[in-house]
Amino acid sequence: MSEYNQHNDQRELDAEPAFNRFIDAAMNRRNFLRATGAAGSVAFFAATPVAQAVAGSMDKSTLMGFKAIPASTADTIVVPEGYVAERLVSWGDPLFANSPAFSQSNDSKAQEMQYGDNTDGMTFFPISDTRAVLVANNEYTNNEYLYPHQGKNISADDVRKSQAAHGVSIIELVKKDGEWQVNVEGRLNRKLTAYTEMEMTGPAAGNDLLKTAADASGNKILGTYNNCANGQTPWGTYLTCEENFNGYFAASKEVELTDEYKRYGVKDKDWGYDWWKHDDRFDIAKTPNEPNRFGWVVEIDPMNPNSTPKKRSALGRFKHENAALTINDDGHVVVYLGDDERGEHLYKFVSKNKYKPGVHTSNLNLLEEGTLYVAKLDGKEGEIKGNGEWIELTFGKNGLTPENGFNSQAEVMIFARKAATHVGATTMDRPEWVAVHPDNKHVFCTLTNNKYRGVRDTQPVNVANPRVKNPYGHIIRWEPKNGDHTATTFDWDLFVMAGNPEVHDDLMAGTPNINKDNMFNSPDGLGFDAAGRMWIQTDGKYSNKDNFAGMGNNQMLCADPKTGEIRRFLTGPIACEITGLAFSPDHKTMFVGVQHPGEDLAPSHFPDGGDSVPRSTVMRITRKDGGVIGA
Ligand code: FEO
Ligand code: CA
Ligand code: CA
Ligand code: CA
Repeated sequence: MSEYNQHNDQRELDAEPAFNRFIDAAMNRRNFLRATGAAGSVAFFAATPVAQAVAGSMDKSTLMGFKAIPASTADTIVVPEGYVAERLVSWGDPLFANSPAFSQSNDSKAQEMQYGDNTDGMTFFPISDTRAVLVANNEYTNNEYLYPHQGKNISADDVRKSQAAHGVSIIELVKKDGEWQVNVEGRLNRKLTAYTEMEMTGPAAGNDLLKTAADASGNKILGTYNNCANGQTPWGTYLTCEENFNGYFAASKEVELTDEYKRYGVKDKDWGYDWWKHDDRFDIAKTPNEPNRFGWVVEIDPMNPNSTPKKRSALGRFKHENAALTINDDGHVVVYLGDDERGEHLYKFVSKNKYKPGVHTSNLNLLEEGTLYVAKLDGKEGEIKGNGEWIELTFGKNGLTPENGFNSQAEVMIFARKAATHVGATTMDRPEWVAVHPDNKHVFCTLTNNKYRGVRDTQPVNVANPRVKNPYGHIIRWEPKNGDHTATTFDWDLFVMAGNPEVHDDLMAGTPNINKDNMFNSPDGLGFDAAGRMWIQTDGKYSNKDNFAGMGNNQMLCADPKTGEIRRFLTGPIACEITGLAFSPDHKTMFVGVQHPGEDLAPSHFPDGGDSVPRSTVMRITRKDGGVIGA
């Protein structure tokens, strides 16, 4: 998908009467509750006809041409009638002509030459009509499947294998027999791991907080890992986003857990990867600054297999989800960024210099220098719309001064979360992917869920995150002032609150564009195709019971941003999440990631069937009639 330089469609979504009617109805639902003082009670039934009336009058989408599919609990991928879903590449598949074939007992050397695990965000870079590069994140590993011993007594090579299964896979694709396929002969094929050399750039480069015994420069960092979602630039590079980096650190002896460690969740115990047992970098008793070297956005040039990836410290250090990059009308590069943790924040980077179309080299370091902002949202209680401002995170401004514990721009970036709190940023319900509509004026972000909202004092309910214990998540939309992405103010509303209208009759039922046929929870992956269809991928509860009854396995839906209509397009296998989305330029092939089928030993054997080990897989989706996906 291409989220940049598309100024071709200047439709003003907020001027659409159909969508306004829908938003009004959503607010009527809530206002009704407030007026009657009946939040959470049966009185909400009375509001349901309002919702139904609006749902009935909602303009039928002309953007979506496929027939919605039902929820599913089957151990397979289901797509609409007339569509085909086939496997492109799975964890452990060869990346090179001499790569060993997949086996659960493959060692680290084999894994270095194979597709990584837990496929996540990805981008399709076309080279010609028949040649392309697919760059995809490999977020993490599941010990229960990575090793035949399921993670008991992890050896040094086991750690190396896990580190090789993380990172980013760069794969050449070739179009053969009318289908995009993996080309193991491709000279651009490459596996970036948790030990590939990278360079730190921007304000934090060379700072004392990044120096370690192995790297006195504070610039030469080994590896990237927990690469969640992604972004791409119009100058042909790929952005990979480091998310839950904290879960890999432990301490071999007692250490002081500083406020900075705590704010990023670094503890003396890891999440079970055991890297620290064989790699001192991950033992904070031995390498206390190593956690500061992760939690960044990394820029990769997929067209040069010898290039050194660059960590972009100007985009701040937090648990990055994706990097939604757009070129503002004046040429500034703007990157919207979510920090996926309960009660964390939404950020925006604006480059100092401007993008010059077609001038490749002058664009290469645009992400090195600029200004980072964090969002503060306001509005009237009881409404699901309002205004907001972007607050600058610059050393010396807004109280980011030595008196308040910030000694340099480097420290503001390394501890961006602390800076955000200091300036009064709004706590959000886990910001996951951000996506910019092809009109380049409207921006959307999935807020996946938040069990602490309204429960922890630090995360009170607010206008933009209005539900206590929000188990379903919502999608917020904003429009920068005058359509200028560098502006410091914006207007926002909620495009959808997910919910279950079969189980609940209050705000937990969701907005009126949620019904029994399109229910889902925990929106996560998000992206637009060139026609403006919005694709929503879920990483939610797949119990299919209680709050989640009728929702089935994780899924992908398609939405029409003009009318608010949402249709289910795809359902995934057992215990997977659907994450990662890319299109060929003609939009006749869509690539979708199936991550961790069978997690926690759930009974999945996707995609090989039989009694095989389940494997994360990128699927290739096409139409039998060769048409555009979703149309
Ligand atoms: Fe890796 Fe927030 O999902
Ligand atoms: Ca995600
Ligand atoms: Ca998620
Ligand atoms: Ca995931």
